[in-house]
Amino acid sequence: MNFGDLIIRNDEKALFSLRALYREFGYSQFKMRKFEEYDLYVKNKDFLISDSVITFTDTNGKLMALKPDVTLSIIKNTKDSPGVQKLYYNENVYRVSNRTHAFQEIMQVGLECIGDINADCVSEVLTLAAMSLKSISPNSVLDISHMGIISELLDKSGASYDCRSKVLRCIGEKNVHELAAACKADGVSDEFIELLRKLTLTRGRPAEVLPEIKKELCGMVSDASISELECLSAALENSSCGDMISIDFSVVNDMNYYSGIVFKGFVNDIPSSILSGGQYDKLMEKMGRASSAIGFAVYLDMLERMDENEEKAEPGKTINIALPKGRLGEKVYAMFEKAGFPCPSIKETNRKLIFENEEVGVRYFWVKPSDVAIYVERGAADIGVAGKDILLEYEPDVYELLDLNIGKCRMAVAAPKDFEDDTQKTLRVATKFANIARNYYSAQGRDIDIIHLNGSIEIAPILGLSDVIVDIVETGTTLKENDLEVKENVVPISARLIANKSSSKFNGELIENIVKSMAAQTEA
Ligand code: PRP
Repeated sequence: MNFGDLIIRNDEKALFSLRALYREFGYSQFKMRKFEEYDLYVKNKDFLISDSVITFTDTNGKLMALKPDVTLSIIKNTKDSPGVQKLYYNENVYRVSNRTHAFQEIMQVGLECIGDINADCVSEVLTLAAMSLKSISPNSVLDISHMGIISELLDKSGASYDCRSKVLRCIGEKNVHELAAACKADGVSDEFIELLRKLTLTRGRPAEVLPEIKKELCGMVSDASISELECLSAALENSSCGDMISIDFSVVNDMNYYSGIVFKGFVNDIPSSILSGGQYDKLMEKMGRASSAIGFAVYLDMLERMDENEEKAEPGKTINIALPKGRLGEKVYAMFEKAGFPCPSIKETNRKLIFENEEVGVRYFWVKPSDVAIYVERGAADIGVAGKDILLEYEPDVYELLDLNIGKCRMAVAAPKDFEDDTQKTLRVATKFANIARNYYSAQGRDIDIIHLNGSIEIAPILGLSDVIVDIVETGTTLKENDLEVKENVVPISARLIANKSSSKFNGELIENIVKSMAAQTEA
């Protein structure tokens, strides 16, 4: 599209192009108001990207919400009719942004195809998703998966409800070490664990990966889901967008809403996915609708970054690695060095924080251990090494590729030796890890009062500030010397190799090589 001499931002350009594209394919605009009854979002909380919603009370006393999502409003405000309704929207939504972790007004464009959805409809929606990405940047990819395959496999594995949700999270993180542990603890057979592991790590062009996956899944999963994925991939591979399509089973969505094809789109240099969609027949059913539906949204707020990064390097040039400052970081660097990514200048004694070895294409930087995950999530680092404590506390949207089996310690509840829990009273918990403590006690249904501290946690119960602490225990010396003892173990901790999701799409081969070589060292 030609915009003449006008200065138009990337997100605005994308908006005009996408609207024109959707209209060209026969989609008509669906306009809606900015708010809905809050109840709609309470009932479908898990469908939302973030369950934080801005609410207000209307003049009639009804609790309303500024729309955090568009799909739910479209389903609520349309009716089943013969054939297929093809709708697109261009609306602002109000939710916590993946990028800023704060409430933001986010410009969202997307489309929904509702009704008697057949293979052609699915193929058209996927083609439009791919074309949308291509119109934003030629350097983009569309990853496709099928929720039917994953849920059928989990059904057959006999995994419990709790285990299934853990497995789904692990698949989304490409975290095969925890996936295997969760399945083992739940009594899932080795055969299923291996299959789930393979599926999680599968990524590649459909023609390269689907035949192998089909063989592996033979007899385990009904042919329908695999055939759907095959036919769809074949149709897409023969289109002008064929080169940007990958099968990636780590693209997962809530099994309570999504039943079929799911997909995510990434653009090089934008650190998280900018497009997300899928076939959500189960949501339709839940909302009392008889028809099927498939759609996607493009998050235009992500495009602001493209302005800043116009001059940035091409993919595959230099891998940025965030190392945790300190003793653990030195061990981690030694592993990278052994893996074939040395950077001799890092050993010089000076106060420098960034070190580069152009020859092997790596740039290391030392950051505070608790900051590694932020650098990786936001794409300032492609990969990094972070403690599991930090990953559990901040829940960054990253891949957790490897348990390095170093920096081992545990998260524990500790208290003075003579402490006895009085369950009649709210338990006062001092900790640096408020999220971990909250999750731990909420699973037990225990009422707690979190006292967030930044260090020297052990003195809190001694001075009567708290009843217990939730903290890291490594050797146990700090507890011992302060007359405290471990009362309960919360979770074992060790260092994990993490990767930015978007960067993994564009530097996949290099990251995979690093992971393989590091994995060999952890096994040694
Ligand atoms: C950590 C942790 C414990 C201590 C445990 O503190 O918070 O205090 O190490 O180690 P140990 O079991 O080997 O004694 P850190 O050194 O990070 O200092 P902090 O008190 O500032 O958190």
